[in-house]
Amino acid sequence: MTRILDLRGDWAARPTEAMRRAMAEAEVGDDNSGEDPTVIKLERRSAELMGKEAGLLVPSGTMGNLVSIMALAPHGSEIIAGEQSHAIIFERGGYAALGGHPMRTVPNDRFGMVDPQAVKDLIRPAGNIHFPRTGLLLLENTHNIRGGSVLNVEQTRSLADVAHEAGVPVHLDGSRVFNAAAALGIPPKDLVADLDMATFCLSKGLAAPIGSMVVGTREQIDRARQARKLLGGGMRQAGVIAAAGLVGLDEMVDRLPEDHENARKLALGLADIPGFTVDLETVQTNLVFADVDDSRSAAEIGSTLEQNGIRITVFAPQRIRFAMHYEITSADVDHILNEMRTFAS
Ligand SMILES: Cc1ncc(COP(=O)(O)O)c(C=O)c1O
Repeated sequence: MTRILDLRGDWAARPTEAMRRAMAEAEVGDDNSGEDPTVIKLERRSAELMGKEAGLLVPSGTMGNLVSIMALAPHGSEIIAGEQSHAIIFERGGYAALGGHPMRTVPNDRFGMVDPQAVKDLIRPAGNIHFPRTGLLLLENTHNIRGGSVLNVEQTRSLADVAHEAGVPVHLDGSRVFNAAAALGIPPKDLVADLDMATFCLSKGLAAPIGSMVVGTREQIDRARQARKLLGGGMRQAGVIAAAGLVGLDEMVDRLPEDHENARKLALGLADIPGFTVDLETVQTNLVFADVDDSRSAAEIGSTLEQNGIRITVFAPQRIRFAMHYEITSADVDHILNEMRTFAS
């Protein structure tokens, strides 16, 4: 059977053998009543890793962002976020549709950073009857659309400071915060220390089949738990999911630099192929975006690769994305580059 290389997302990583075993053997209980021992263990472990009081398991990164927004921002209050945020573009507008929040955006630079002054300028002054209250600043690290680039501790703090000075809480969409931490060589908790709440995904580079974690204070997590229930995300024997997540935290975090090396190798190779442009400076973790010149479309490349057993994301008419995860080896990258060379213009 031909091996399919699935680079559409790091979410394409399938659960490891160790995860499948742990899932089969998981001790479970009713999570909806707070009684699942494996979920409790994962929630405690996640909180500890992130230096926060409490954690909450949710089915997806999308729900993690939404319950965090609902926990932090009063209904009807306005959210400020980078205009290229995943939570704005790819999460069906849940912040407005379900959370009841208007949104104002600031530009993201090439690396996903937003200008602290631009954020400050958007924060609504208190006491004016016309304005909604500013309820939240939402950040993203690593930044998906900006090529998996990383915000460091100082950048994160500079943004948290302007928000906090105005009494506005900050949430991090840290779906890939372990990748950011690995790229910086620091513990992930350093990247959320200045922030109120954060999410991270178990189901991306950590390869678990389902699940994201939300962390914050006990009170914030209580509110997030209520929001999770409201959204239909209260689960029963979720220890089966949590067991895979624990294996992800134990076994998959330390190997993330391997994905980053493979991404770098792919990016450098692609940049050498006529017809493709890669912003190499933004290739800091496990994602590689490439722009395709006018000689062919991204869709054409995607479908030809697919016929040859390589799955990628056609991100825009002239833009493709490759995501690295544990199932993609350095030898696979050589193979992918060989295939890509057939498109040289
Ligand atoms: C930055 C970011 N946030 C949130 C999500 C949503 O995660 P999920 O697909 O688990 O809902 C993704 C998914 O790719 C993402 O890249």
